Amino acid sequence: MEMLDLTAKVHDESRQGEAYAPFVNDPTLYRKKFYIESYGCQMNFSDSEIVASILNTEGYGATRNAEEADLVLLNTCSIREKAEQTVRKRLTEFRKAKENKPGLLVGVLGCMAERLKAKFLEEEKLVDMVVGPDAYRSLPGLIEEAETGQRSVNVLLSRDETYADISPIRLESNGISAFVSIMRGCNNMCSFCVVPFTRGRERSRDAFSIVAEAQDLFNRGFKEVTLLGQNVDSYYWVNEAAEATTQNATGDAITFGRLLEMVALISPDLRVRFSTSHPKDITEEVLTTMAKYENICKYIHLPVQSGNTRILQLMNRTYTREWYMAKIDQIKQIMPDCGISSDVITGFCTETEEEHQDTLSIMEYSQYDMSYMFFYSERPGTLAARRYKDDVPEEVKKRRLTEIVNLQNRLSRESNERDLGQTFKVLIEGDSKRSDRDWMGRNSRNKVVVFPKGDAGYKKGDYVMVTVTGSTQATLLGHIQK
Ligand code: SAH
Ligand code: SF4
Ligand code: F3S
Repeated sequence: MEMLDLTAKVHDESRQGEAYAPFVNDPTLYRKKFYIESYGCQMNFSDSEIVASILNTEGYGATRNAEEADLVLLNTCSIREKAEQTVRKRLTEFRKAKENKPGLLVGVLGCMAERLKAKFLEEEKLVDMVVGPDAYRSLPGLIEEAETGQRSVNVLLSRDETYADISPIRLESNGISAFVSIMRGCNNMCSFCVVPFTRGRERSRDAFSIVAEAQDLFNRGFKEVTLLGQNVDSYYWVNEAAEATTQNATGDAITFGRLLEMVALISPDLRVRFSTSHPKDITEEVLTTMAKYENICKYIHLPVQSGNTRILQLMNRTYTREWYMAKIDQIKQIMPDCGISSDVITGFCTETEEEHQDTLSIMEYSQYDMSYMFFYSERPGTLAARRYKDDVPEEVKKRRLTEIVNLQNRLSRESNERDLGQTFKVLIEGDSKRSDRDWMGRNSRNKVVVFPKGDAGYKKGDYVMVTVTGSTQATLLGHIQK
């Protein structure tokens, strides 16, 4: 089960603030060392890999140990107040490090940098650089500026930056699964959400550069790519000018469904996943493409946010309760064994008890395998902050959230029980957390499966058929099919 305070949904809470160590610590190879911590959604973790690549060409090697770094970077998240508090707390800890090491530079990247801009330099006196998500190419120049003692800021948002030509340095990767960013920004303007302000306008990355990156990963032994974006289903790229690729301009438009197919065709042994889907944009074309290719995983993260039409309208989600339920029906009709997960916000402005019940019943209807569940946190500058009153008392929000979490726990358990006795194709990602005598992998539905290695001679990156014999809250247990 995923817990309450995830700062975002696409990755695991245990990775919040994770330090990356991409390069061997060979002092003869790199002039200087940087240390980076990432917070928030998978997009931020993916951006840190782009930042690592940019710094690498400038002679910076990474270190896991902040104390030996010349440059400390925090890639930050603004999605909820709690996410920002975590970062501020962490920054005060770096104040000490800076006192002990006067030349140390501290930079804030990502969504908080974008939201607070130069204000950050006044509020957090120790910060030397503030760099927004579309400005990472300017990092080398900003570092140079900061080295002369000036504080530097670049928070310009772009209409076309996709970092298409930058090959990310895979940090702390298991060597099997990787994230590939396919678009940036968001045009949706959900009233509660800060992302359109911190990430700017939506833009799609050159399709051929995406396929080339996925192909390269596959050639290097990776077996799974997850196509990433705030709203992947609205991916739309027109082959007008041959920018980052050698392809000719054809004027062809590439939709998300087509892109999925292009990546799936790289090899039947390369699994394809994607995240996140906005319910309004996931088309029949996408669903039928998923159904057509065995290697496109049968799993959709389809955040509902609320089960009540009035609240959905206030949230500016552009669908109704009935419309969402029909989308669930359509998914199950096209792919009966498709896993579905969700994000839920409870206690949004003016939400009544009855409307809260609608959220519980839509969760039950959708039979989510898993959900990320949050109580509403007002974000300055958003539509909701300007228009509506955050009037649901905190105790009520917490109680409703507990009801939502309890329901999801039951739904997850029931979903696991339905898997008992079934056999799934599992991609081995590595040793299980608990024991190196067990493998850990995932099935197509994105469920984690743990099973004894035995003497079958499989290795990381292999596909293996596993029969489920039991489960814990978050994991299926099984054995290799004889
Ligand atoms: N683009 C993704 C969402 C990214 S943010 C999508 O549309 O699915 C991840 C989740 O954080 C959202 O789905 C929402 O459930 C939650 N969230 C966003 N803003 C929030 C806020 N102000 N308070 C509480 N939760 C919020
Ligand atoms: Fe935020 Fe909505 Fe865009 Fe998701 S789709 S990032 S919730 S504005
Ligand atoms: Fe957070 Fe920014 Fe992602 S606000 S959830 S890091 S897009």
